Amino acid sequence: MKSRGKVGGCGSFGTNLGLFAVFLLCSFFFLAGFFGSMLFSQDESDARPRPRLLESVNEEKDFDPLPYGKTGEDSVVSIPFQVLSWKPRALYFPKFATAEQCQSIIKMAKVQLEPSTLALRKGETEENTKGIRTSSGMFISASEDKSGILDLIEEKIARATMIPRTHGEPFNVLRYEVGQKYNSHYDAFNPAEYGQQKSQRIASFLLYLSDVEEGGETMFPFENGLQMDAKYDYRKCIGLKVKPRRGDGLLFYSLFPNGTIDPVSVSSHCHHHLPFRFTLKRVFFWYEKNPKRG
Ligand SMILES: *[C@@H]1O[C@H](CO)[C@@H](O)[C@H](O)[C@H]1NC(C)=O
Repeated sequence: MKSRGKVGGCGSFGTNLGLFAVFLLCSFFFLAGFFGSMLFSQDESDARPRPRLLESVNEEKDFDPLPYGKTGEDSVVSIPFQVLSWKPRALYFPKFATAEQCQSIIKMAKVQLEPSTLALRKGETEENTKGIRTSSGMFISASEDKSGILDLIEEKIARATMIPRTHGEPFNVLRYEVGQKYNSHYDAFNPAEYGQQKSQRIASFLLYLSDVEEGGETMFPFENGLQMDAKYDYRKCIGLKVKPRRGDGLLFYSLFPNGTIDPVSVSSHCHHHLPFRFTLKRVFFWYEKNPKRG
């Protein structure tokens, strides 16, 4: 907080009465300044909620850790997050990874990027689904990354979500070029469309690897149950939007706590104007052994 209400220069008058007056005057200015600055900071927080939220996390004092179990940790840590929505359940994790980590992941993935494939529904073929997902991507598991960065990130995701590492698919690095798109989709598999599933996708974690100046937001067009009956134009950028910023994370749940698909967890992303938009995606399953899927 800036010290806007600061007052200086309460000089001395030399008499007792003067001293008392000075004291009153100083108190008055101090209080005026204090409440004034509170008002100002209120205005600021309305305009830019994000920095204040981070600030309050950083200001937290250290907490004493409790005795911990065999698989526990010996310290209290804070991984800042913001609840973006309950419908769908979506959490934002600012600065989840460092810029350097993101850059090395991009570098590692670039050499292996292939056009993304799609899980096919009944009656769908490679041919008739052409154009639904036009990004390129590659799968990599943490153990394949010799730099150890994916290992660190995988561990941090597991700690932030408390979904064990063994329940995640390999990482999917996705690259969207200008004009490339991914139609609105559920990450979970609807048994009515895909047939009975051995396992189901619980949640997805996205890590934005690059900044996007304009557009490129992840969007949840059905946020809060809106637009669900209308035939909306997926090219329109509507609903809850999450701006990709290098290093930021986004977690959202595809299933309700009772295990059925949350109909508002449909996601997509808005058009963007930069050459590339990179995302690292990790999807979590019910069961530990899962078939890989693009
Ligand atoms: C599962 O939970 C959702 C959300 O609370 C609810 O709307 C739905 O009816 C539930 N389904 C079952 C089968 O319990």
